[in-house]
Amino acid sequence: MPSRLHVSGDVTVPGDKSITHRALMFSTAAVGESRLRGLLPGEDCRSTASVLRALGCDVPGLPADGGEIRVTGRGIGAWTEPAAWLDCGNSGTTARLMMGLLAGRPFTCTLTGDDSLRGRPMRRITGPLARMGARFREAGAPGCLPIEVSGGPLQSIDYVSPKASAQIKSAVLLAGLGAGVPVSVTEPMLSRDHTERILGALGETVATEDAEGGVRITLAPSGRPLPPLRMEVPGDPSSAAFLVALALLAEDGELRIRNVCINPTRTGFFRLVERMGARIAMENARTAGGEPVADLVVGPARLRGIGVGAGEVPDAIDEIPMLAVLAARAEGETRITGAGELRVKETDRIAAVAGNLRTLGVEAEELEDGMIVRGTDRPLAGRVQAFHDHRIAMAFGVLGAQPGNAVEIDHPEVVDVSFPGFWELLRGVSGG
Ligand code: S3P
Repeated sequence: MPSRLHVSGDVTVPGDKSITHRALMFSTAAVGESRLRGLLPGEDCRSTASVLRALGCDVPGLPADGGEIRVTGRGIGAWTEPAAWLDCGNSGTTARLMMGLLAGRPFTCTLTGDDSLRGRPMRRITGPLARMGARFREAGAPGCLPIEVSGGPLQSIDYVSPKASAQIKSAVLLAGLGAGVPVSVTEPMLSRDHTERILGALGETVATEDAEGGVRITLAPSGRPLPPLRMEVPGDPSSAAFLVALALLAEDGELRIRNVCINPTRTGFFRLVERMGARIAMENARTAGGEPVADLVVGPARLRGIGVGAGEVPDAIDEIPMLAVLAARAEGETRITGAGELRVKETDRIAAVAGNLRTLGVEAEELEDGMIVRGTDRPLAGRVQAFHDHRIAMAFGVLGAQPGNAVEIDHPEVVDVSFPGFWELLRGVSGG
C-alpha cells in the first residue's frame, strides 16, 4: 500500500441506472425499433430487462461495454401475462415503475424480489395506483412484495405525494401513460425528472409547474403509439460520486470523469461537497440523451463538516452514505437531518453507515432521520458490513483506499448491482 494517495486518470463510469431502467421500459412500450447505447449492465437493470422479457418483450442482453442494443417494441398493448412471478431482484425502481406500467394491463401477475426488496415499503405505490383502479394483493409481509397486481382500465388521478420520490411520481405517470388517462403528481420538491424528460422527447405533453405544496407534474397522454427511442445513456452521477470522493481524499493528483449526467435533480452531492471545501469543474457541458452532461474534473481538498437539511436530501439521496463517510475525514462535525428515507433503501443506510463508522473508530451518532459524524484524522481499521447494499460497500471501499486505513468489506461483490468494475476502476485511479 503506497503511503500517499495519488489520483490520476481520465475515466468514464457506467451508464446511469435510473435512465437505463426507463430506456428499457419505454422502448418495450414503444412501437418500432429503439436503439440504445451506454446502458448500465448492472444487476438492477438486468432485472428490468428480464422482467420485460417475461412479459413477452424482445430485450437483448445488456452489453458489458455499453455498446448499442436494438429493442423492437410492439406497444404496451402487446405485453402478455407472464407464466411465472416477476423477479425484480434487488431493484426497487424495477418493482415500483413496473407496477405503474402493469396497473393498466388487462391481466394479473405477481412481482417479487430478493430479501432486501421484499422488506421495502410498496404501499406508497399501490396506494395511488389502487385509487386509479388497479387491484393489489399482498402475499408477503404487510405492504411488501410479493404483490399480485390485477390491472385493467384506470381512472385519472391528481395525486399529492407526501415525498419527493421519483419512483412514486414515475409509477403514477407511467400508469396514466399505459392506460391513456391524464394524471398529475404534486411532490414537495422536484425529484429526479428522467421520466418526464423521456416522455417529452417521445412527443408527450408533460408540464412541470410550481404549485401549492411543491411542484406539480401533469401528463395528458396523447393516445398515439410511443415512437422508438434513440438514446445514448450518460454516465451515472451516483457512481461518479464515489470517484469524486476518492479524489477529494487524495493527497495529490487530479481525476477527470467524462460524460457524467449533471441533471440538477441528481447533482446535490457535488453541491454539498463543494460546501465542504471541494472544487469540482464541470467542463465540456453539452446535452446527450435529453440530459445535461459534462466532464467532471476534481482533485484533493481539505474538507470541513457541514449541516445538511431536508431540502437538500432528494437531489443527493443515493449519495448520502458517501457524504457521511467523507464526513469522517472532514474537520469538525457533519449533521445530516431530513433523510429518514435512507432507512428504507436497499438497507437501513443510516444504521449501516453510522454502525460501520463506529466499527472503524469514528464518532457517529444515529438520529431518527439522519446522523452526526465527527471527523478524525486517525487511521481507521476494521471489518465493515455491506448489508448487501452496493452503495454501502462502495462508500467504505473509498475510505479503504486511503493509505493507513485498513477497511475490510464483508461482501465486496455487491457493487455489481450498479457499478460493475468498481474495484478495478478504484485501483486503477489510485496510486502512490
Ligand atoms: C430512483 C429514485 C430514488 C432513488 C433510487 C432510484 C429512480 O428513489 O433513491 O435509487 O430511478 O426513480 P425514491 O423515489 O424512493 O426516492
